[in-house]
Amino acid sequence: MASRLSYTPISNLPLPCEKIPKPSQIVPNFPNLPLNSCPGYRGSRNITSSRRALSSSICHAVREQELVQSPNSESNQDSETAPPSSSKLVLVLGGSGGVGQLVVASLLTRNIKSRLLLRDPEKATTLFGKQDQEKLQVWRADTRNPEDLDPSIFEGVTHVICCTGTTAFPSRRWDGDNTPERVDWEGVRNLVSSLPASVKRIVLVSSVGVTKFNELPWSIMNLFGVLKYKKMGEDFVRNSGLPFTIIRAGRLTDGPYTSYDLNTLLQATAGERRAVLIGQGDKLVGEVSRLVVAEACIQALDIEFTQGEVYEINSVKGEGPGSDPQKWRELFKAAQVK
Ligand SMILES: NC(=O)c1ccc[n+]([C@@H]2O[C@H](COP(=O)([O-])OP(=O)(O)OC[C@H]3O[C@@H](n4cnc5c(N)ncnc54)[C@H](OP(=O)(O)O)[C@@H]3O)[C@@H](O)[C@H]2O)c1
Repeated sequence: MASRLSYTPISNLPLPCEKIPKPSQIVPNFPNLPLNSCPGYRGSRNITSSRRALSSSICHAVREQELVQSPNSESNQDSETAPPSSSKLVLVLGGSGGVGQLVVASLLTRNIKSRLLLRDPEKATTLFGKQDQEKLQVWRADTRNPEDLDPSIFEGVTHVICCTGTTAFPSRRWDGDNTPERVDWEGVRNLVSSLPASVKRIVLVSSVGVTKFNELPWSIMNLFGVLKYKKMGEDFVRNSGLPFTIIRAGRLTDGPYTSYDLNTLLQATAGERRAVLIGQGDKLVGEVSRLVVAEACIQALDIEFTQGEVYEINSVKGEGPGSDPQKWRELFKAAQVK
């Protein structure tokens, strides 16, 4: 049975803050190459059999962790005292990653409750500081392991944002077989298979080019299958029967911000790249700020007509929609009309 991880007050720190292990070195997932090629790909596993397999799997115990408080979490005090303003409970996968951190930081400032599933829960404390469990809960899970996705993890979850990923090319982040096949395909399949039918929306972050992985330049990016496996993950979400939105990001800029903390995250801006382009049909090929992707994921949760839709997203120099829901509605709507 998985257990929730609790934060330890700063006075009870088991080790000095400076000894908090730094997140491992980040290798860009999608290097700046001309951007999938493996001919054909395995179809998604039958969801019913997959769910059955999961329900019969043994849920292994997760050791309860003491988490250390970030040394730098002054601005968290306000959010700590204010009660959550929303009835949402958003499950975030990949919350220690570039886009995921920004999603979590943004949910915190919006006073929306979130639950993070992390391979290394200590990263949450480093990144987001001490948070009230009412607002931010952290559980240990590796999406490659169905037995980590204990049903108790999903209790009360209303929405899901999945921004897990690994590098497109072999790197240290593949250590322990954490490859695109395992993360972008099997991880997404395991997650989706274990979600309760009551979930109101799952937003999956995918990539532009997934439908063209046999074509240059995408075939180069896909040399190790990342686009193919992301497409398989997408297809599994699409066929799951769950209400979904897929956000296919262009090459990510700004960040990944890893090894920063909440204060820094909250100050992050999309630089000059704030104007948002949203398309459909896998035609966009440019870049997008991680901040813009994070905001798009959060906005999509509340825009009814984005349900069941797949969007590509880029951002370019200029004024953007910021966090204005109406502007985001218009952007998503315009993409569907085109
Ligand atoms: N980089 C690009 O240019 C680009 C372009 C298009 C789309 N994308 C996609 O956009 C999304 C966000 O990218 P990003 O660069 O911001 O992310 P990132 O920094 O690479 O973060 C990836 C996240 O996934 C988590 N993760 C990896 N393996 C996992 C596993 N087995 N179980 C649970 N969690 C796991 C990581 O956790 P740990 O901290 O434990 O490693 C981390 O939180 C990804 O889906 C990526 O593939 C990226």
